[in-house]
Amino acid sequence: MSAENTEDKGLEYIRQGTGTADAKATGAALKRQAEELAKIGAEKKGGAAEKAKPAGDSPYVQVDRTLKRCQYSQDALIEVLHSAQETFGFLSDDTMKYVAHELKLPPSWVYGVATFYHFFNLKPQGEHTCTVCMGTACFVKRAGDIVEALEKEFDVKAGETTADGKLSINIARCLGNCGLAPMIILDGEVHARQTPESMLDQCKKLVKG
Ligand code: FES
Repeated sequence: MSAENTEDKGLEYIRQGTGTADAKATGAALKRQAEELAKIGAEKKGGAAEKAKPAGDSPYVQVDRTLKRCQYSQDALIEVLHSAQETFGFLSDDTMKYVAHELKLPPSWVYGVATFYHFFNLKPQGEHTCTVCMGTACFVKRAGDIVEALEKEFDVKAGETTADGKLSINIARCLGNCGLAPMIILDGEVHARQTPESMLDQCKKLVKG
């Protein structure tokens, strides 16, 4: 297996949380395995990130500035990812590999952080974004019904963007303010104690412009 494949496989294992060859393994074991694979891949590759680094005019100029400002400290991972998302609108695999290389971290580590925080998007987002908290407190107060209503109205699955690129519907774990349940973040603004009807109303208005 080439180093590059090994590294990609590490990311893939974590993303899927399972693998046919290791169907009996637990999620934690798979994650450990993925991290090992990614680590080995990165070591073998040595210049893995040379490949991630594009030739000519780099689209990573802004990210490089942040890296320099933070003196390439691994502790600055979230800040660097933040900068990358501001630049590209989301975090692609290539971007995460680039950041991992520059900070000398396993790609699986960067991927783990990017997926842990609801703030980071791993897919291109629509013109408007609606993030519905599906943590326990929000779920018992009908967050699931809100997601279902939005999916039906806009003909899109949670985690996806409508065909016209107008609206992305995302799911988050607990957003940390359960007293406001069910809580939704619409274009960066917090909306507390929502109902399926109130969210449909607001999203329709947004999409219509
Ligand atoms: S469960 Fe939704 S904010 Fe905590």
